[in-house]
Amino acid sequence: MKTEIAEYCRRLRLGKNIALISDQIAAESHQEYLLKVLKEELAYRESKMKNRLIKQAGFYTLKTFEGYCFDEIKLPAELSVADLKEANFISKKKNLILYGNVGTGKTHLATAIGIETCKQGRVVRFFRTAALVNLLNDAQRKGELGQLLKKLSKAELLICDEWGYVPLDRGGSKLLFQVISECYEQRSVIITTNLEFSKWVNIFYDEQMTAALIDRLVHHSYLLIFDGQSYRIKNSLMKNYT
Ligand SMILES: Nc1ncnc2c1ncn2[C@@H]1O[C@H](COP(=O)(O)OP(=O)(O)OP(=O)(O)O)[C@@H](O)[C@H]1O
Ligand SMILES: [Mg+2]
Repeated sequence: MKTEIAEYCRRLRLGKNIALISDQIAAESHQEYLLKVLKEELAYRESKMKNRLIKQAGFYTLKTFEGYCFDEIKLPAELSVADLKEANFISKKKNLILYGNVGTGKTHLATAIGIETCKQGRVVRFFRTAALVNLLNDAQRKGELGQLLKKLSKAELLICDEWGYVPLDRGGSKLLFQVISECYEQRSVIITTNLEFSKWVNIFYDEQMTAALIDRLVHHSYLLIFDGQSYRIKNSLMKNYT
């Protein structure tokens, strides 16, 4: 019977899952059985979609809010820890700038927010900024910039990690400027950086371009300041005592 169910599901384009679960669902009536099967199938599809979005986003590590400590992060008054955990700034097309010292949890937080956003069924792209710029430069060289920009524009959240960690070439910085400008009021951006705004001109060279970029980003941004001690150092110090 299972093979037959699988065959009908295939013809109805319902996938393999319904046949697989068909003998594992207990119910007291035909209708209850059908309802449970449909519910299971929906849950299965949603979880598959979330996993696909997480994979597609390109996170370097898969970190969540579990065990994440917010104690040493200064949040703006209008933004709570719950807002971050629910990633609700994304529907408002707001940006986050995570600024602070090395090892203080910026990438971890950006990743956790990104994963939560994927779980909400939204498209996310995570890049180390230098890698994004390389990708943009390559695409331009190959005449495929339009395609790449279109792909990026499908994301509701663009994460640029390690912003300003590596110097950019002039052409690349212009392309990055273009990407960020196109996000303005359309999509959310998260930037993690240890570079204060006054030094951003060192990445973008052009003062006018830098001022225009900061203006657009800051207009709809929340600035989070990470001024704790490096977790990496804390952990390695702890190791010496154990
Ligand atoms: N607040 C925190 N709560 C729990 N773990 C943390 C926290 N901050 C950092 N960590 C852990 O410490 C390590 C370093 O954190 P992370 O890579 O996010 O730092 P970062 O601010 O991005 O540093 P860098 O500026 O060097 O990129 C990670 O393993 C991370 O999981
Ligand atoms: Mg980092």
